[in-house]
Amino acid sequence: MLILGIETSCDETSIALLKADKKRANFFITPIKSIVSSQIKIHAPYGGVVPMLASREHVKNLDVIFNQVLKESEKEKQEGGIKNIISKIDLIAVTRGPGLIPALLVGINFSKTLAWSLKKKIIGVNHLEAHFLSFLLPNEGERMVITQKDLKRIFPAIGLIVSGGHTLLIYAKNINDYMIIGETRDDAAGECFDKTSRILGLGYPGGPAISKEAEKGRIQNAEYKIQKLPRPMIDSQNFDFSFSGLKTAVLYAYKKIPPQLKRGVKKYFAKEIEDAITDVLVKKTILAAQKYQAKTIILGGGVTANKVLREKISKAAQENNLNLYLPLLQYTTDNAMMVALTGFFDFLNKKQNNYSWENLEADANLII
Ligand code: KG4
Ligand code: ZN
Repeated sequence: MLILGIETSCDETSIALLKADKKRANFFITPIKSIVSSQIKIHAPYGGVVPMLASREHVKNLDVIFNQVLKESEKEKQEGGIKNIISKIDLIAVTRGPGLIPALLVGINFSKTLAWSLKKKIIGVNHLEAHFLSFLLPNEGERMVITQKDLKRIFPAIGLIVSGGHTLLIYAKNINDYMIIGETRDDAAGECFDKTSRILGLGYPGGPAISKEAEKGRIQNAEYKIQKLPRPMIDSQNFDFSFSGLKTAVLYAYKKIPPQLKRGVKKYFAKEIEDAITDVLVKKTILAAQKYQAKTIILGGGVTANKVLREKISKAAQENNLNLYLPLLQYTTDNAMMVALTGFFDFLNKKQNNYSWENLEADANLII
């Protein structure tokens, strides 16, 4: 079946086309085309996402991107015209939460209009589940085959979902069958990257900015030693996280640095921040996998673009004989391909009993 994915939960406008089928208990997944339009430049001066600006940009972008995805899919697949592709769409999958309400509503209303006018089925997707399932997506034009044997090898799994708004550890019995075992009590890991980047004046989004600066701190010998930052809750007897104390620690430690040295020490702070966040994430994920006797560890969400996190979790998984699945880089941050994929599984599992536009509503606080 052909699925149109639509994502507008935060500051990326994205539309994607995915071909996905189930034949004799095997799944065949082929991403056709995905376009992500980032609003980074618009929000950067504010150091974070401004919901009403995000919403306005989604309104401007959606129809343009929709046309572009159809045109480029036509080019790649030579399917004989945009109208032909539209006629072949079987399902529209749109993020219905969690996210910023003014942003979610734009994508949902756009999708409802399409569903109504084109007489298509529509399904509302959980953005967090979409991040979790993104490890199943191959590159555009490639095909991923998932057999029942594969699923038996993967599940039960421990999933770490780390984004700008969420930090969750889940126990996944199977696709669509989850239990939350830990979450952040305050800031999300991505939020901690964003806020500490702001303190250091490194720009927005903080994750890539901190990461770039930290690389310099890793290759140069420290001419100035900064204090070690805390690894909050790293030894706690549960799977919850807390990152707001780390942010405060950075604020006070950086304040104490003499003005003439501030610029030079940023790289060491960035390295320490990256190490502190990733140490906690990795330790708790491995512990969870051991406690729950998971067969695999699965990562998803914007923070999983982080190179150091990917390296540390790969090493730790190997040392603990755990299989690890990481999403391809293009599917770590918000994108509509993961939404289309989740819509496919939700559809197969009959998560909704009605696919009409009338029953779809945004839910800013939806949880997995
Ligand atoms: O999943 P995502 O695109 O949006 C949400 O659902 O929140 O995640 C965005 C978050 C931001 O906080 C951003 O700073 C972080 O992911 N991020 C990174 C990296 N790339 C993006 N964090 C650390 N290292 C990165 N390379
Ligand atoms: Zn996200």
